Amino acid sequence: MRLKNKVAIVTGSGAGIGRATAKFFANEGAKVICIDIDSNKASEVAEEISKDGNKSKSLKLDVTNEEEISKVLSELIQSEIKIDILVNNAGITVTGSVEDLTTQEWDRQIDTNLRSIYLMSNKIWKHFKKNKGGIILNTASIASKIGIANDAAYCASKAAVEMLTRCMAKDGAPDNIRVNCVCPGFVETPNIQGYFDAQPDPEAARKFAISLHPIGRMGKPEDIAKGFVFLASDDAEWITGSSLVIDGGLLTALP
Ligand SMILES: NC(=O)c1ccc[n+]([C@@H]2O[C@H](COP(=O)([O-])OP(=O)(O)OC[C@H]3O[C@@H](n4cnc5c(N)ncnc54)[C@H](O)[C@@H]3O)[C@@H](O)[C@H]2O)c1
Repeated sequence: MRLKNKVAIVTGSGAGIGRATAKFFANEGAKVICIDIDSNKASEVAEEISKDGNKSKSLKLDVTNEEEISKVLSELIQSEIKIDILVNNAGITVTGSVEDLTTQEWDRQIDTNLRSIYLMSNKIWKHFKKNKGGIILNTASIASKIGIANDAAYCASKAAVEMLTRCMAKDGAPDNIRVNCVCPGFVETPNIQGYFDAQPDPEAARKFAISLHPIGRMGKPEDIAKGFVFLASDDAEWITGSSLVIDGGLLTALP
């Protein structure tokens, strides 16, 4: 058990990568606080974890809402005494080029994928400092590293997540706060299905996405969860400011 007696918050844990990460963390011995804007999905995951005999609870929280974050995190800090790990995973995909995106769409993308990480980390930082350490893990993307057509706001948000990870790592190191991110390729989740559905030919888009991965398939949420477990564990105690690319080889083999 690599996360025994740790308390971990996972945002966006109602589906996809967050859901798998919450379950993997629990199986490694962590108590997991499942956070999602969709309270039904979050409580479903927490219940599944509890049924397996592990500790979990769910909380409804919109990670774009500063007031809600302050309230939820301060209550959590009081009730849990010590939180060890924060996984900033909640994210959405708003497709469009700069020509097509409305200001509202741009803001929604940046608020959900980027500003939320600042807000969550800002509100937990003092707690980590007081406890002489903590771990922050962010979900970036291969879109942090390459530009994707018709995906301007998403790529910009994820590139910024990777840089924010490095900056937080530098600031946190003296206080034993480690900060890393993962950069997934295309992963089979409700979010990616939404991305395909938004393309003119969803089936062709899916086939093209699969063809981008030399390993010959898209990722499973569990592929990413395993990376998060590693980065959260003591096996990664000398790793901070890094980006773990988990992409079936996509970045090695771009057309
Ligand atoms: N699926 C992929 O191919 C892929 C690739 C690279 C990066 N990512 C990133 O991985 C993360 C998870 O994506 P996924 O594919 O598992 O998505 P998903 O849509 O399957 O799950 C995301 C979860 O986040 C929740 N959520 C959305 N907005 C929220 C908010 N404002 N507050 C709290 N919760 C909110 C949703 O309700 C949902 O349960 C995202 O940051 C995404 O950008 C996904």
